[in-house]
Amino acid sequence: MQDITRRDFVRNSVAASAAATAVVAPAAAQATASSDGAIKILAISCSPRKGKSTAAALGVCLQAAREVSPRIETELIELAGLRINGSVAAGIPLAEGEPDDFPRLVPLLADPKVRGIILGTPVYFGNMSSLCRAFLERCMVLYQNKLALSNKVAGVVAVGGTRNGGQEVTIQSVQISLFCQEMIIVGNGRPHARLGGTVWSGAEGGVLKDEFGLTTTKALGRRVAEVALRVAGLS
Ligand SMILES: Cc1cc2nc3c(=O)[nH]c(=O)nc-3n(C[C@H](O)[C@H](O)[C@H](O)COP(=O)(O)O)c2cc1C
Repeated sequence: MQDITRRDFVRNSVAASAAATAVVAPAAAQATASSDGAIKILAISCSPRKGKSTAAALGVCLQAAREVSPRIETELIELAGLRINGSVAAGIPLAEGEPDDFPRLVPLLADPKVRGIILGTPVYFGNMSSLCRAFLERCMVLYQNKLALSNKVAGVVAVGGTRNGGQEVTIQSVQISLFCQEMIIVGNGRPHARLGGTVWSGAEGGVLKDEFGLTTTKALGRRVAEVALRVAGLS
């Protein structure tokens, strides 16, 4: 195994993020709402399975966010099928010709109109998926470049195959990396004010039949929307 020095780390991180750097908006640009008076909330599904439970739960979450105000626009991004190598964040360069889809996510994440980001992950062994971990590690470049996620509102949805399969501990694990980005992390607010969306895909009929889980998820969507509007000076 090859050790990397601090100098290697810095050099490789900078090189790996060069394509991304140019499109990262300065944090100052986020101080105002967009000119059309609308803000955007992104949901990112970190399941390797496209269109499955995590994406479905996030769809419900975004619907609840839109219902808060006509000023809220939403977009769901699925990481399924994308190549995201987390080791790049540690300064390990991509192999020659290795595909890398992370740089094209950067402008979407850093867009000043995006005032809220909801991360959704399946629960894998009581934690986030490896795809989620790799994505969050690569988001380090957004921290290194002008704190591009700073003051955006963040919420987390975790989807497990069992009712108490580690959803809450998974949410907390994701939240730690979001704190490091200076994001404004919210839970699901009234009436129970829990950590986020805790969803069970094993319910008969799947996540859309998990009444309790969807209650937490809708509440999270509303809370992210409400706080994002407040931070943007629109409520
Ligand atoms: C490797 C692996 C580990 C898993 N570990 C857990 C777990 O610890 N707790 C749990 O509730 N479900 C666990 N599951 C089940 C998934 O969380 C569940 O099927 C989830 O709905 C998958 O999300 P998706 O449908 O969006 O892919 C695991 C699944 C896999 C593949």
